[in-house]
Amino acid sequence: MNTSTMTTRTFLCPPTFYDVTYSINPFMDPSVKVDRVLAWRQWSRFVDALEARGLDLMFIEPRDGCPDMVFLGDAGLVLGDRFLCSRFRHRERQMESDHYRRAFGHLGYRVIAPPESAVLEGLGDITVWSDRAILGYGQRSNRAGFEAFRRFAPFVDVVAEVELPDPRFYHLATAVAFLDADTILFYPNAFTPAGRAQLERTVDRAIAVTERDIFDHQACNCLVLGDTVMMDGCSSGLERELAGCGFRVETYPMSEFKKGGGSLRCLVLPALSGQAAAEEMAS
Ligand code: ARG
Repeated sequence: MNTSTMTTRTFLCPPTFYDVTYSINPFMDPSVKVDRVLAWRQWSRFVDALEARGLDLMFIEPRDGCPDMVFLGDAGLVLGDRFLCSRFRHRERQMESDHYRRAFGHLGYRVIAPPESAVLEGLGDITVWSDRAILGYGQRSNRAGFEAFRRFAPFVDVVAEVELPDPRFYHLATAVAFLDADTILFYPNAFTPAGRAQLERTVDRAIAVTERDIFDHQACNCLVLGDTVMMDGCSSGLERELAGCGFRVETYPMSEFKKGGGSLRCLVLPALSGQAAAEEMAS
């Protein structure tokens, strides 16, 4: 059991105003209705499970007119008492940043804004495990955004920086996740051959998910707590493969959030952790 995750401060934003009213990724179709009641149920069940596992949950106030705020994992990065606020690529999400700056400021965080040339979409394009990170560019976040991240968290070892050539994988978090420090779950076709090779070199174990698991379930958009992998759903083949590596799958259906292009990984913003982070916070 990874005990550090037990008390990880984790931010969420309730789906009060969640909807699909515009389209900034290939999954968003404003003519498909979001069932708001079901969205609440799905979100609440997931949040209850996080609470039961002892995570230190904090909630950011949702705002009318910002339907994607529920995907709070994209809001920025939290480290100690500092918050690096995202700068979104699409106009549709840019208003969110003001709300995040204000909300984290009120909570006592020192708010840092990336330079104007930067695009940075929080954990959407930065996949972390403790002190290791993989960065994804080509759709949303850019080099200047990653520069801001490196300055913000210099102790983090960037083990791979990969291109996302396919608009269906508009965020890195849709295509790869760490399961532990030496294992990733990924969808190989989301990457260029060079990116794929880079990812495979980075870890001891790279578990490839099938097309079905990626398109039906957004399987890489999962959250790992200890030996439990929380995800929208999963084929029996993947479940068996994960079991063989010592992981147990727990499913939290996310049908309504998949209409917005995201799944449960994007709903949470855990503070960065890891040994170096702990030392920085203690100093
Ligand atoms: N509608 C949101 C967008 O396109 C979904 C973001 C989901 N987050 C994620 N990390 N995939 O920006």
